[in-house]
Amino acid sequence: MIDADPRAHWDEIYRTKRSASSGQPSRLLVQVAQGLKPGISLDLGSSNGDDVLWLATQGWRALGVDISGVACDRATASAVSLGLQDRARFEARDLGQGLPEGRFDLVSALYFQSHVDLPRAQVLREAAGRVAPGGHLLIVSHAEPPPWANAEMLAKADPFPTVDEELAMIADASDDWITREAKKVARMGKGPDGAMAELWDNLIWVTKRPA
Ligand SMILES: C[S@@+](CC[C@H](N)C(=O)[O-])C[C@H]1O[C@@H](n2cnc3c(N)ncnc32)[C@H](O)[C@@H]1O
Repeated sequence: MIDADPRAHWDEIYRTKRSASSGQPSRLLVQVAQGLKPGISLDLGSSNGDDVLWLATQGWRALGVDISGVACDRATASAVSLGLQDRARFEARDLGQGLPEGRFDLVSALYFQSHVDLPRAQVLREAAGRVAPGGHLLIVSHAEPPPWANAEMLAKADPFPTVDEELAMIADASDDWITREAKKVARMGKGPDGAMAELWDNLIWVTKRPA
């Protein structure tokens, strides 16, 4: 874990290493959300906005929240340039200090993991409570370090959660969930030397049983 101010840390990342958007939504988000009836969505740690913008093109009223104002300003500019500003909004907010008001038909947390302080379990538990009856919670997380991780990277890394730990994190006796997917999935990713390698993610998709 790096000892740094989270907002300053992520703003710096978005100014330097992640200064451009890929323009592509996450494959697992597309896989899950393309079959859902559009409603109101919330993306936790929305980065440059690609996932939120894609949801907006699918008819969702999509809100993205990120601690980095640099990322949110860039995502907002993309929404305007794509003519999606009425459906895709971005809010700079430290989710550790609380979530935006409201109930959501889809809450997504895609690689919502950090090398700097992030009360992830608390945020995910709160987010689970904000899913509307009949709504969905999608969590995708890095399940293992990449093969190119060295000792220095591993020392900085957040612990890699298991599928069971992710499910336990959002479990609450007062909510009744239908588990649609809870598994580890592989994908191919490009390492720093340009070579492709197998990477492992956790995929958790649960639906809150209608009251
Ligand atoms: C590993 S990135 C993942 C970004 C994106 N969802 C994706 O799939 O590529 C984690 C994101 O969470 C954001 N983040 C970290 N701590 C946060 C916090 N306390 N509140 C809100 N966002 C936070 C970071 O700025 C960053 O954009």
